[in-house]
Amino acid sequence: MLDLEKYRKIIVANWKMNGSIKFINDFSEKLALLENLEESTCRIICPPFVYLQRFRDQLNNFYFGGQECSQFDEGAFTGNISAKMLKDLNCNFCIVGHSERRKLLNEQNFEVSKKSSNCINFNIHPIICVGETLEEKNLNKTREIIEKQINESVPENANKNNTIIAYEPIWAIGTGLTPSLEEIDYIHQFIKKDIKTSKDYKILYGGSVKSSNFKEIIQLTNVDGTLIGGASVIFDEFKKILYI
Ligand code: 13P
Repeated sequence: MLDLEKYRKIIVANWKMNGSIKFINDFSEKLALLENLEESTCRIICPPFVYLQRFRDQLNNFYFGGQECSQFDEGAFTGNISAKMLKDLNCNFCIVGHSERRKLLNEQNFEVSKKSSNCINFNIHPIICVGETLEEKNLNKTREIIEKQINESVPENANKNNTIIAYEPIWAIGTGLTPSLEEIDYIHQFIKKDIKTSKDYKILYGGSVKSSNFKEIIQLTNVDGTLIGGASVIFDEFKKILYI
């Protein structure tokens, strides 16, 4: 496991199902040319699985992660990728329980927990995603929803050194909307201080982060980093963020 304590901030690029070989080659060539990147920032790129191999042993300034891994170790699970396979491809991180998978594939907390546990067993830091819908937010249920997701998704072998939580309000993903800065900081503090399961964990914010709002979000006391979707596949946007 990496020592996360040595990093002040963590930036994760979730490329989702975007890219092509040409895109990846161009993007990584440009990334390789970036100099004087902040040493106290942990930078992680999570490309689609099929392109992970291209990054292996490249780009010293970045770590790599999967966007998901199987709850099983191996066997007849067509289309699945195991934590062990991710480790083979040099991954130190893996996004688990993203809301898109929870919604589109009906992924449940107990599966997220199993997947996260597998990651930890292979020295991969799971980045466990939680967040409320707009309806839940309007009903003032954000804390209740998040607490339940965390309590049921964080496995027993997790601790503040091997596991990261990402708070991604579902209504903020890809919409251009974000909670207020006070709300973001408050929810992060709630996860870190009030939920026993995730006490003192590193917490990332995700949902419509871009170069224009990155600084004010990353500076919040209880925010340890960001999980970035759309802005992380636009090279100039991502570069700006890396140098803020
Ligand atoms: P956007 O940054 O595109 O809103 O996506 C956030 C996200 O889902 C990262 O995992």
